[in-house]
Amino acid sequence: MIPRTVFGDDAVQHLENEKAERVLIVTDKQLRELGYVDEVKKYLKAEKIEIFDDVEPEPSIETALKCSKIARDVDAQLIIALGGGSVLDVGKMARILLELDIDPELVTPFTDLYELGFQKKAKLIAIPTTSGTGADATWAMVLTDTKEKRKVLPANREAIPDLTILDYRFVEKMPPKLVAGTGMDALTHAIEGAVSPWRNDFSDAMCEKAVEIILENLEKSYSGDADARAKMHHAATMAGMGFGNSQVGLVHALGHAFGAYFKVHHGICVGVFLPYALQYYINDKESKKLLDYLAVRVKLKDAETLVERILEIMKNIEVPTKVSEIVEEKEFFEGLEEVLNHAINDACIVTSPRCPGTDEVRKLYEYAFYGKKIDF
Ligand SMILES: [Fe+2]
Repeated sequence: MIPRTVFGDDAVQHLENEKAERVLIVTDKQLRELGYVDEVKKYLKAEKIEIFDDVEPEPSIETALKCSKIARDVDAQLIIALGGGSVLDVGKMARILLELDIDPELVTPFTDLYELGFQKKAKLIAIPTTSGTGADATWAMVLTDTKEKRKVLPANREAIPDLTILDYRFVEKMPPKLVAGTGMDALTHAIEGAVSPWRNDFSDAMCEKAVEIILENLEKSYSGDADARAKMHHAATMAGMGFGNSQVGLVHALGHAFGAYFKVHHGICVGVFLPYALQYYINDKESKKLLDYLAVRVKLKDAETLVERILEIMKNIEVPTKVSEIVEEKEFFEGLEEVLNHAINDACIVTSPRCPGTDEVRKLYEYAFYGKKIDF
């Protein structure tokens, strides 16, 4: 399952083909201030265009509900989600809730929305403004239950946008820090998607190519190279198309739980656990075989070389390589049991090539905190 894709320097012009009369643009305040909403509006012929710009980072369930209410008030025929993963996920949920009164947590891969009355009345177009989440190409959404400090992960095939527009103008001004964080997210998607037990020829093709592009271009994009940034924009969506059809694994389970508790950017959270999870895989014969194969596909010698190259990239793009660079020791260990509990209950953990038990997850967190090489 993948969305139709338009890419290029002027890809957003494609919106001229849209005939919807009532449009809702979902975005955030920062992107609106950058003039991106105006850039999109320029190509729309709609009678009524409503803007919802209240999406916050790591968006809450309440935000998705608020957005869907506006979509209903406008009676939107077209929802355009213009932003990073948070905005895209809220847009995806809003398209479903526009028609259905349903608890977002009940939107699961097994829910037949059509049986509940869903008719897919509104079209959904994604315009990503970061190159990382791949949310423009996947069926999953990440929302936060603010009361319980945990992530909820609804998913459904009807959440996949009908169209994704990859226009490089929207990533040109991305701050380097965001290039780094979202780039690590894309790299994690591509690697996890390639070694997932649910991998298949279609997901492999997307994930392997995405890893290759990212290893070649992330550092250059971080330094401001426009061509490399355009390549990264492709790779993020390709990784989404890959892992969206095979699933992410352990790194995301560790990252989701840690990020929800300590309120840290998703890309930084998964990035910091990536080398440790891969070392954990290398210590298992079958998992190492998968990583060796991937390494060779991306022109590296073996799994160990792949991990070394990732650590080198992480240093060059100035992202933390151990958890102690993100949170204080006391704070971390006080929260560890709760974080651990969420991690082992995260749906992603079962789609890892090597699936750790509770004690191993605790050790993975401890080793990642101190930056110790995994020896188990
Ligand atoms: Fe991710």
